[in-house]
Amino acid sequence: MVISLKRHRGSNIPVKELTAETIKRGLKTRCIGREVIYYTSLPSTMDAARDEALKGAKEGTVIIAGEQTGGRGRLQRAWLAPKGNVALSIILHPDIKSLPCLIMIASLSVVRSIESIASVKAGIKWPNDVLIGGKKTGGILIENEVVGNKVAFSIVGIGININLKVDDYNEIAETATSLKKESGKDDLRINIIRSLLEELERLYLSLPEGKPIYEAWRDRLVTLGKNVKAQSGSQVIEGIAEAVDESGALVIRGEDGRLTRVVAGDVTLRKK
Ligand code: BTN
Repeated sequence: MVISLKRHRGSNIPVKELTAETIKRGLKTRCIGREVIYYTSLPSTMDAARDEALKGAKEGTVIIAGEQTGGRGRLQRAWLAPKGNVALSIILHPDIKSLPCLIMIASLSVVRSIESIASVKAGIKWPNDVLIGGKKTGGILIENEVVGNKVAFSIVGIGININLKVDDYNEIAETATSLKKESGKDDLRINIIRSLLEELERLYLSLPEGKPIYEAWRDRLVTLGKNVKAQSGSQVIEGIAEAVDESGALVIRGEDGRLTRVVAGDVTLRKK
């Protein structure tokens, strides 16, 4: 979850260790997760994945950490992922025109894996926060290396609160939740990871179809129709979140009736 780095603490939940072998066992994919590199502890899987990508890692290589000690989120925030949660990064080599869809397929696959494994309803807060009952459960960070008009590689980082005791962290106690808290089910990590990688591969391979992915993502957005405040760089836009376009931008109608397209940023609900 997003908190200040200084407040990072470990979790005391006893959990079975993951290994690359246990993740790969029974995994029904052709490319994503055929190569898994597991670390008991890492500062951030994003950096380890970047190092592997620069060394020429294969498409679909997954870097996973038992715990992260310096995880990062969007907008320079920190991401809390002590032992017992999911923190992984996937190396992909997409076509440049598919880049906007990576956010969509990553958030959709997190939502679908949560619903199929934990049997709880999940939604997406624009652009890619995964929520259960309005509380953040998963986050996605995508870092692309683009050279000219070619994507050298993309790193898709995914964090999911599985066993995180959110009540132990004042900063997120009100705004975050975990799968354990919502479903009452014990350690869902392995099943969530396998389901997530399988769903992500299915969607990734269907990227050339484009529109159905956009529509599926749009239909899972809990932001649409809401009165929101969007922060995009130094700009603040307030109004009704009316639509998202196929590039993933949020379209907000202000009180003066004007439409503003927000390409990147963060939204909060506005009380009125
Ligand atoms: C966000 O909601 O701001 C995105 C959070 C992304 C967290 C994941 S955990 C795995 C990967 N490694 C990181 O350091 N960050 C991403």
